[in-house]
Amino acid sequence: MLRKFRKIVFLTGAGISAESGLATFRDSNGLWNNYDAETIASLQGFQSNPSLVHQFYNELRQQMFSAIPNPAHLALTYLQQHSHAEIHIITQNIDTLHEKALTQDVWHIHGQINQLRCVNCGKIIETWESWSVNNRCCSCLGELRPNIVFFGEEIFFSFQIEQLLSTADLFVAVGTSGTIPPASSFVRDVRKHSGLTIALNLEKPTNYRDFDVVIEGKVSEILPSFIEKLLIYQ
Ligand code: APR
Repeated sequence: MLRKFRKIVFLTGAGISAESGLATFRDSNGLWNNYDAETIASLQGFQSNPSLVHQFYNELRQQMFSAIPNPAHLALTYLQQHSHAEIHIITQNIDTLHEKALTQDVWHIHGQINQLRCVNCGKIIETWESWSVNNRCCSCLGELRPNIVFFGEEIFFSFQIEQLLSTADLFVAVGTSGTIPPASSFVRDVRKHSGLTIALNLEKPTNYRDFDVVIEGKVSEILPSFIEKLLIYQ
């Protein structure tokens, strides 16, 4: 199964950050079991109650500010530092734990918790502070929204993602339930040109049939062990 690869693309989900103390979305204690996704993570929800949405992301921002990377994040950085292959990380996560682990080339396709965007001029503001509807864009006084992809909106960096998936010879999904498009179909894009596809997750992801191999377990254990075996060939 494993061999020397040229370009390895990882797709990470909330499961890689669970052992850093951050809630996932669809586990039994997941965010979408405690909050209504439509109200919190849709454009209509934001437009009808921006204060509630800001409050939700303010709380999440504080948790994510304090969270620290776990061995799974660190294993990806180790791979980048010790492999001859190109290693790219596509993440659905809005936390910055990959960056805190000093991982390079991270693509946040659903945005980042420490960014706000002006709905008027599009300016992006980086901050870990709490925000409210009273805060305005410093350039045009427009309203600010979380720079996070709401349900129904296009993901960020789709052109770059397409380039990565079309040339990857190994695709590894880590800690994602594989339920939300377009990320859930990235595996099929890689298989189209015979890239090897592997899923590492606590349980079989919804799209497990699309993968050549599924490895079940806690990412802080199975990802370092997988990377150790991968490095034998790199
Ligand atoms: N080790 C490995 N896997 C884990 C662990 C762990 N310690 N803890 C949880 N998991 C797995 C769960 O079994 C689950 O399959 O991580 C997965 C998390 O799935 P979701 O909660 O659905 O999160 P994710 O796949 O990232 O969601 C995708 O949906 O709501 C949107 O924008 C949101 O980016 C998110 C997207």
